[in-house]
Amino acid sequence: MNRASCLLLLVALFATAYSKDYFTEKFEDKSYEDRWVQSTAKPDLGAFKLSHGKFYGDAKKDLGIQTSEDARFYGLSAKFDEFSNEGKTLVIQFTVKHEQKIDCGGGYVKVYPAGTDQPGLTGDSPYHIMFGPDICGYSTKKVHVIFTYKGKNLLIKKDIKCKDDELTHLYTLILNPDNTYEVRIDNEKVESGKLEEDWDFTAPKRIPDPEAKKPSDWVDDEKIDDPTETKPGDWDKPEHTADPEAKKPEDWDDEIDGTWEPPMIDNPDYKGVWKARQIDNPAYKGAWVHPEIDNPEYVEDANLYLFKDLGVIGFDLWQVKSGTIFDNVLITDSVQRAEEFGNETWGKTKDPEKKMKDEQDEVERKKEEEDRKKSEAEQATKKSDDDDESDADDTKSPHADDEL
Ligand SMILES: *[C@@H]1O[C@H](CO)[C@@H](O)[C@H](O)[C@H]1NC(C)=O
Repeated sequence: MNRASCLLLLVALFATAYSKDYFTEKFEDKSYEDRWVQSTAKPDLGAFKLSHGKFYGDAKKDLGIQTSEDARFYGLSAKFDEFSNEGKTLVIQFTVKHEQKIDCGGGYVKVYPAGTDQPGLTGDSPYHIMFGPDICGYSTKKVHVIFTYKGKNLLIKKDIKCKDDELTHLYTLILNPDNTYEVRIDNEKVESGKLEEDWDFTAPKRIPDPEAKKPSDWVDDEKIDDPTETKPGDWDKPEHTADPEAKKPEDWDDEIDGTWEPPMIDNPDYKGVWKARQIDNPAYKGAWVHPEIDNPEYVEDANLYLFKDLGVIGFDLWQVKSGTIFDNVLITDSVQRAEEFGNETWGKTKDPEKKMKDEQDEVERKKEEEDRKKSEAEQATKKSDDDDESDADDTKSPHADDEL
């Protein structure tokens, strides 16, 4: 190992050793029920059940909490020691698997302030961060990243597509103290940027100068008619002309049939509307650019990323078609640690999970194929029986004659 990679490894080890997990949950057995609080705010909230689902990579490691009732709201949350992400990176990560071919339903987590009323959790409970996939029909297939700022929920202005297959996927939100962020799916970056630019935390920094106007003599026509060109004198010809081949029918009677007129045909000499050749406009000044000024409404906030009292994480969602499994929840201060945790959990089971799913799909495909063949065969037998019967009918008399 050379010096550089040795150093890298040390840095990596250091980062991991000194990272702090604020919350982890792998849902490996029923004991999660002691850590998670079911909301009782409404009488008909849906129930989560412990399950690895129809297909999985590891029967134990892939246990997670699965939504088990259709067309329900869900409300389940867990608390952790209150902390502030001041001056630190904040990573929120979890896996979600829509094995039910979801048509409409949330797949996100919400992170709440400490002291949130957990038994009273509803969709109205104020949260700090909402993050994760949301699917509804064909039009909504996105990753939500919502921050609550000065009492308002701010949605990310970029469109981040979520996964819409039936496999388990890892979702990671990284929030940095320099007010930048990154979203990863399956440990790969899908979006990143500056908080200030991608959410409307405050009025924009620069605005078009309201005083500035496009000068009235501004020329923004890029092309003009070539002034050296004029319409040729013999250009204009009628579009239609009397058919020179047509002849008045012999039996035409002007008195009965009216005055005979030859039918009109397209005039072969017609050239259409004359247009001058287009040339570059020598007076063209380019598109007018509205000058910008600093926006007096803009308020700088160096702490957009900061949440001082994080304390609860929860699944507050609506699902039309249940069956989603959540697992491997992590809140930490290290990207490296989150990546490792993702690798150890989702990274280890994703391939065997896919293998089992593919095998099940194959069995299913074969079964459908056999069923199809069987029903085709049955139809064919039925048809030939019918044919035999009618054949029998047809041949009855000759046979009968023979026998006689
Ligand atoms: C996670 O796994 C990927 C793919 O195998 C690897 O490239 C990456 O270095 C791993 N990350 C960590 C922190 O172990």
